[in-house]
Amino acid sequence: MKAIIMAGGNGSRLYPLSKVSSKQLQAVYDKPMIYYPLTVLIAAGIREFCIITTPQDQYRFEQLLADGTQWGISIEYRTQASPDGIGQAFLIAESFVGSDNVALMLGDNIFFGGDAFPRAMAEFRSGATIFAYHVTNPGDYGVVEFDREGRAVSIEEKPAAPRSHFAVPGLYLYDNRVVGMARTIKPSARGELEITDINRAYMESGELYVRRLSRGFAWLDAGTSRALQEASAYIETIERRQGVKLGCPEEAALVRGFLDLDQFCAVAAAMPACDYRAYLEGVATETRRIRGAGH
Ligand code: TTP
Repeated sequence: MKAIIMAGGNGSRLYPLSKVSSKQLQAVYDKPMIYYPLTVLIAAGIREFCIITTPQDQYRFEQLLADGTQWGISIEYRTQASPDGIGQAFLIAESFVGSDNVALMLGDNIFFGGDAFPRAMAEFRSGATIFAYHVTNPGDYGVVEFDREGRAVSIEEKPAAPRSHFAVPGLYLYDNRVVGMARTIKPSARGELEITDINRAYMESGELYVRRLSRGFAWLDAGTSRALQEASAYIETIERRQGVKLGCPEEAALVRGFLDLDQFCAVAAAMPACDYRAYLEGVATETRRIRGAGH
């Protein structure tokens, strides 16, 4: 499975923070926001990425992430001329998707906990898989209602009267037919190609599966300055308490075997002296100790 990360948009709710810098490059505690979705996907075993940005921000993403080889992955870039909807991802990245299945992730979604995503990706066969997360404000999101088998019975975008408390987080898994489906949907009343309309098309053919995320799982979106601040505080709390970092792509790549220990150490050595580098060096020492003990 390949992955597209949607990192365009206006970021209007973050203005003036977003006036000269993309939302997905803003700091969430100690690293850029895009590190978090990237890490979730690397940890789930994905190696081939396409990042969709605005035309003006593309070079900054390239400066930050390059072509991914430093982390044992590949990253292609595409631009979205204007924010005409998340569903446009499949049209923009059609040549990247090719004949593969594809995960779509929003660049401002932060997840933490459990193995729901790696499991869902490993078990994915066909159709579409989305996730459901219980929230107090479902009307701000896509809202899904589902039966006991996890089959969706209704899905609506930002409904005034939500039919459930289950919002759909910004990670979606599709078979290759999604590209054709994206071609057939029409812009919504707000002028966007809605991901919810693609999901509804799968639902109507009986192939939209919903996996409920447990209450131990955290889902934050960092679309407002308050949410950004709360996400930073959350990450700081977990990192300080546990002494591990969230959203560290180098570590995820090491654990997945996309980087061997020497490559991982070389990545760390190329960094200036900083907490992040010290953390990676600590991970290397610990990994060496554990692997040594295994022999
Ligand atoms: P939103 O938060 O819905 O939109 P936004 O980022 O433009 O912010 P605002 O509402 O404050 O103006 O977008 C969710 C994610 O999807 C975010 O990572 C940006 C991305 N996105 C695109 O890349 N292209 C699009 O056309 C849209 C609508 C969103």
